[in-house]
Amino acid sequence: CLPSCETAKFCLLSFSEKLLVLTVATEETDGFHRFIRSANYFNYTVKVLGMEETWKGGDVGRSIGGGQKVRLLKEAMEALADQEDLIILTVDSYDLIFAGGPEEILRKFQQANHKVLFAAEALIWPDKRLADKYPLVRSGKRYLNSGGIIGYAPYINRIVSQWNLHDNDDDQLFYTKIYVDPLQRVSIFNSLCFHVFQQTLNMTLDHKCQIFQNLNGAVDEVLLKFGTDRVRVRNTVYDSLPVVIHGNGNTKMYLNYLGNYVPNAWNYEHGCRDCDDDVVDLSQLKEYPNVLVGVFIEQPTPFLPEFFQRLLTMDYPKDKLKLFVHNNVSVYHEKHIQKFWEENRNAFNSFKVVGPEENLSQGEARNMGMDLCRKDATCNYYFSMDSDVMLTNRQTLKLLIEQNRKIIGPLVTRHGKLWSNFWGALSLDGYYARSEDYVDIVQRKRVGVWNIPYMAHVYLVKGSVLRNEMKERNYFVLEKLDPDMALCRNARELGIFMYITNRHDFGRLISTANYNISHYNNDLWQIFENPADWREKYIHQNYTRIFTENYLEEPCPDVYWFPVFTEKACDELVEEMEHYGSWSGGKHEDKRIAGGYETVPTDDIHMKQIGFDKEWLHFIREFISPVTLKVFSGYYTKGYAIMNFVVKYTPERQAYLRPHHDSSTFTINIALNNKDRDFQGGGCRFHRYNCSIESPRKGWSFMHPGRLTHLHEGLPTTNGTRYIAVSFIDP
Ligand SMILES: *[C@@H]1O[C@H](CO)[C@@H](O)[C@H](O)[C@H]1NC(C)=O
Ligand SMILES: *[C@@H]1O[C@H](CO)[C@@H](O)[C@H](O)[C@H]1NC(C)=O
Ligand SMILES: *[C@@H]1O[C@H](CO)[C@@H](O)[C@H](O)[C@H]1NC(C)=O
Ligand SMILES: *[C@@H]1O[C@H](CO)[C@@H](O)[C@H](O)[C@H]1NC(C)=O
Ligand SMILES: *[C@@H]1O[C@H](CO)[C@@H](O)[C@H](O)[C@H]1NC(C)=O
Ligand SMILES: *[C@@H]1O[C@H](CO)[C@@H](O)[C@H](O)[C@H]1NC(C)=O
Ligand SMILES: *[C@@H]1O[C@H](CO)[C@@H](O)[C@H](O)[C@H]1NC(C)=O
Ligand SMILES: *[C@@H]1O[C@H](CO)[C@@H](O)[C@H](O)[C@H]1NC(C)=O
Repeated sequence: CLPSCETAKFCLLSFSEKLLVLTVATEETDGFHRFIRSANYFNYTVKVLGMEETWKGGDVGRSIGGGQKVRLLKEAMEALADQEDLIILTVDSYDLIFAGGPEEILRKFQQANHKVLFAAEALIWPDKRLADKYPLVRSGKRYLNSGGIIGYAPYINRIVSQWNLHDNDDDQLFYTKIYVDPLQRVSIFNSLCFHVFQQTLNMTLDHKCQIFQNLNGAVDEVLLKFGTDRVRVRNTVYDSLPVVIHGNGNTKMYLNYLGNYVPNAWNYEHGCRDCDDDVVDLSQLKEYPNVLVGVFIEQPTPFLPEFFQRLLTMDYPKDKLKLFVHNNVSVYHEKHIQKFWEENRNAFNSFKVVGPEENLSQGEARNMGMDLCRKDATCNYYFSMDSDVMLTNRQTLKLLIEQNRKIIGPLVTRHGKLWSNFWGALSLDGYYARSEDYVDIVQRKRVGVWNIPYMAHVYLVKGSVLRNEMKERNYFVLEKLDPDMALCRNARELGIFMYITNRHDFGRLISTANYNISHYNNDLWQIFENPADWREKYIHQNYTRIFTENYLEEPCPDVYWFPVFTEKACDELVEEMEHYGSWSGGKHEDKRIAGGYETVPTDDIHMKQIGFDKEWLHFIREFISPVTLKVFSGYYTKGYAIMNFVVKYTPERQAYLRPHHDSSTFTINIALNNKDRDFQGGGCRFHRYNCSIESPRKGWSFMHPGRLTHLHEGLPTTNGTRYIAVSFIDP
């Protein structure tokens, strides 16, 4: 047979051919919007088929289906059938991103030199028995995938016009049967017989991912390739830069990861490019949105009063906030909640507490909180916060709302650790897997808004989403999963994207591990487990100014005076000692010390007696040693001390201490309460210099040499009770 004129005509076509993208979408899912964004970025002409139609194509993710797509395409192609110059690209949309533009697709299509090109993959689906019918390929992917097809309009029409099945029949099977039919595909016979030639559809597959990259079974083949302007996906096996990236099968999450970069979402030069798209400007709104804040106290949590304080000082109108608190920790936290409730219930629009007596599981409680927002048509957002989230950024809620996503959480991390409230990837069994970018996101080396498969602890959900896509009542109880894992799995299955933003520093996640609640003020013991929160609660506001502004005094020669403890630290330490209660009585005989005899005894309790010695020594190393180094330059303290104690002076018991030297290289002496308010008299006198300090300041410490030069005495407390914390350092 001679080549037909038809063929010759096609040979003349160049890049100026028209390309029309046809896609089927019955809902505007997050994935659909991502697809459209990437298409618009490259200026594709896209026609969406089936929007507002009910999907009857089955659950394509789990079983066969998708016939509705072919039916819609068939209908659309009828009008385009005779446009011989028109090239049709038909692709899925919910799980697909463009990584390149129309010119590139057309060029590659020309190079493929066929009338119709299908995407290819290494896995055969849905009918494995058809495997033998496929032509062999020496290298490349052998099987057809219907998520991407490109071809001349008349040819595409000839394919889809064969459709006469049901909406829930399988589209891929339909295309596969046409493709594996040698009479329809180009075959060796066609060049021998003009008649057969006319019949063939001149089809092939994109075996080496020049245009179509299906990710199913191919995740290991692809890498991100960062350019100065765009980010592409590179197939490392075929060394190609595919244009259409398709997260078929169970690779949706991986596509979400790629979509955080491709085509222009984030790169090294410019950072996040789409972070400011579709944002809401709260200052332009007449009224702030109503937010229901769900607070979940599911285990004993350090620094809970501070957590509530942060909630209270969040920069958001309180009358727009409703509070729902679930407390699963009966005795211990009830007092904290009660106090906060009594002081602030009227500040909020409403305040509901569900206590342990309701016997709700964590999942049920979370369902209840979410449902309160769902059922309240005025609830614009549901903000879920676990008690271990310390939002140090007062703008957090506003910033999240402004970002305008269905579900978004602020990045919070364990202080100085890689532990955070999101996972960048999931393992096959649904648990943590580290994504390539996880560390960079946690450390804020890559800053943006990230589509991720799992988040927990703190997130904002739109009320409208709860009343639409998520209108079911139970998202947190699913099999044996943790409630947050259940929520995230449900959201993933609904195709709702979850985002983590690290565009700002939002705060941290505290550790609830090893929280021993058998003390009176348990947070005092948190210096190791939660050092940042410990410091914030217990170290004086002006402590750092010692180093930056020389913020300290020298009231007597070589006696330094500086702020170190907050009021809370002082109060809690005193309370802890009074709670323990076994004051020594100031006797010479003292079983607590080596030798059993104290020459200059005080009425005291040792840190060791309340199990606080390790923590106290750590405090000395962390906060006293730097001051020592500053004022006694060249002296490096080991921060070692055996005698660490709280002394109580009161006229009824021991009111003063006679002149003595301390058995230390240097001594610290921290005033734990206020002169004139809590006691009268008191102070300290250094004999060698005839120098007295009679107005000790609460939370301030003296530091002076112990032996030889600094003979000193404790001046009498004349009324009330005075407390000081003392350490003899480097004895
Ligand atoms: C898309 O079209 C706009 C307007 O014509 C143009 O500025 C832009 O560069 C085009 N984008 C691409 C990726 O070609
Ligand atoms: C398939 O179509 C291309 C042009 O699109 C043509 O060059 C080629 O010869 C055709 N192949 C067969 C086997 O018909
Ligand atoms: C609390 O609920 C659990 C399971 O729902 C049940 O086994 C338990 O008996 C309940 N406890 C009380 C005190 O009602
Ligand atoms: C919280 O509730 C669960 C039951 O849902 C219970 O097993 C657990 O011990 C509770 N935790 C505390 C600290 O009360
Ligand atoms: C908790 O503190 C108490 C009192 O100091 C102590 O007896 C107990 O051993 C501690 N528990 C743990 C698990 O460390
Ligand atoms: C810290 O210093 C500032 C300025 O001198 C002072 O106003 C403030 O009260 C100090 N903070 C505390 C807790 O004493
Ligand atoms: C010690 O100082 C006080 C007043 O500050 C003074 O009255 C007294 O005379 C001084 N004593 C000696 C021995 O210098
Ligand atoms: C001692 O303090 C109490 C209250 O703190 C006060 O009522 C009393 O008057 C004080 N006594 C003297 C002698 O100042």
